[in-house]
Amino acid sequence: MKVSSDILSLVPYKPGKPISETQREYGLTKVIKLASNENPLGPSPMAVEAMTQALQNLHRYPDPAFYELMQLVSKQWRLPTNMLSAGNGSNEIIDVLIRVYCEPGEAILTTEAAFIAYQICAQAARVKTYFTPLKSGFQMDLTAMANFLKTSPDAYKVKLIFLPNPNNPTGTYVKWEEVKNFLDQFGSDPDRLIIFDEAYTEYARAKDYRSPMEDMSKYPSVVVIRTLSKAYGLAGLRVGLLVAPPHVIDLYNRVRNTFNVNEIAQVAAVAALQDADFLRKSQQVNWEGLDYFYEELRKMNLPFVESQANFVMFDTRRDVVKVNEALLKRGVILRPILNYGFKTQMRMSVGLPEENRFAIEKLREVLQEIPAIT
Ligand SMILES: Cc1ncc(COP(=O)(O)O)c(C=O)c1O
Repeated sequence: MKVSSDILSLVPYKPGKPISETQREYGLTKVIKLASNENPLGPSPMAVEAMTQALQNLHRYPDPAFYELMQLVSKQWRLPTNMLSAGNGSNEIIDVLIRVYCEPGEAILTTEAAFIAYQICAQAARVKTYFTPLKSGFQMDLTAMANFLKTSPDAYKVKLIFLPNPNNPTGTYVKWEEVKNFLDQFGSDPDRLIIFDEAYTEYARAKDYRSPMEDMSKYPSVVVIRTLSKAYGLAGLRVGLLVAPPHVIDLYNRVRNTFNVNEIAQVAAVAALQDADFLRKSQQVNWEGLDYFYEELRKMNLPFVESQANFVMFDTRRDVVKVNEALLKRGVILRPILNYGFKTQMRMSVGLPEENRFAIEKLREVLQEIPAIT
C-alpha cells in the first residue's frame, strides 16, 4: 500500500532512556534520570489522595466536558469556561490545533530549536514547518518571525505560529516587551493564530517574563497552552489545558477525542491545581537546583544558557554522543540534544539535591576521561 513520504520520513519523538533499560544494559543498580524535565518531587500528594478515591469510579466513562476541571481553571485564571478546554497532555492540543487549522500543503511557523513536537505533528498532517533563526545565545527572535511574515513569499501558507515560552530544550524565553511588540503587529490577524506554549511558565523567574493570557481580549489571535506535566508533577497522567477564543475552543472540541482526558487524570488535575504548597515547593527545589547547576557548570568551564524552565542546556565542548555514553555507564541519564542539530549540547533536568550532586560528580569524571574539542 502506498504511504505518504511525509509519514515514511517521520522520525518519532525520542523520549529519555528509561531507568530500567539503562540498569539492564549497563548492569547497574543505581541509575538516576534527569532527561525528561519531570518533577523530581513526584505527584502532588493531594492529587494522589484524590486519585485513590477516584479508583472506585473507573467503570464509568470520564466527563467529556471536564466540568469540575473547567470550573476550577475558570475560577483560578479568571476566564470564562467557553475559553477553556483540555487535552491528553499539551502534546495532543498541539496535534489537534494543527489538524483543525492547517490543510495539507499549508504551514506552521516557529523558531529554530523550538520544541520538536510542533514539527512532528505538522509533518504527520502533511503540513510544512518554517523556522526562523535564533539570535546569539540561543535566544528566540520575534523580529525574524515578523520579517518572515512580512516579506517571505511563503508567509501566506502560515496558519499557526508556535512560540514556546519558555522554550525546550534551550530554556530561553522572550521578554514581554518583545512579545507585546509582536502582538501589536500580528495579534489581531483573523487568518492566523499565535500559540504560546507555556509548559514551563510556573518555573520562569525572569522579571520581564509575562504570559499574554491576561491580554487575550486585546489580542484575539492569541492561544495559550499549559500543562500539568511539569510543575504540577502529573506527566504520567497526560493533562494539558487550552485557553483560546470561544470559536477556537469550539473547533478544538469537535476534533479531539471525546474521552481524551481520563477520569483519574481529571480528578488529579483538580486536586493538583489547588495544591499551592506543592507548587511552591516544586518551584523552590527547581530554582535551588538550577542555581547549583550554574555554579558547578561555571567551575567546570562549560558554557550554559540561563533557563526559565526545569532544566539547563549546556555545552559539553565534546562530542555529546560520547559524553552521553560515558554518563550512562555511570548511571546518569541526561539528554543529548542531537535531534535539534546540536553536536555538543546536553540538556540536564533538575532533580532532587542528591540526584543533582550525583549527576555533577559523574559529569566531572567524564570530562576528565574525554578531552575537550579544541
Ligand atoms: C515546550 C513543551 N511543550 C509541550 C510539552 C508537552 O507536554 P505534555 O504533553 O506532557 O503536556 C513539552 C514536554 O516536554 C514541552 O517541553
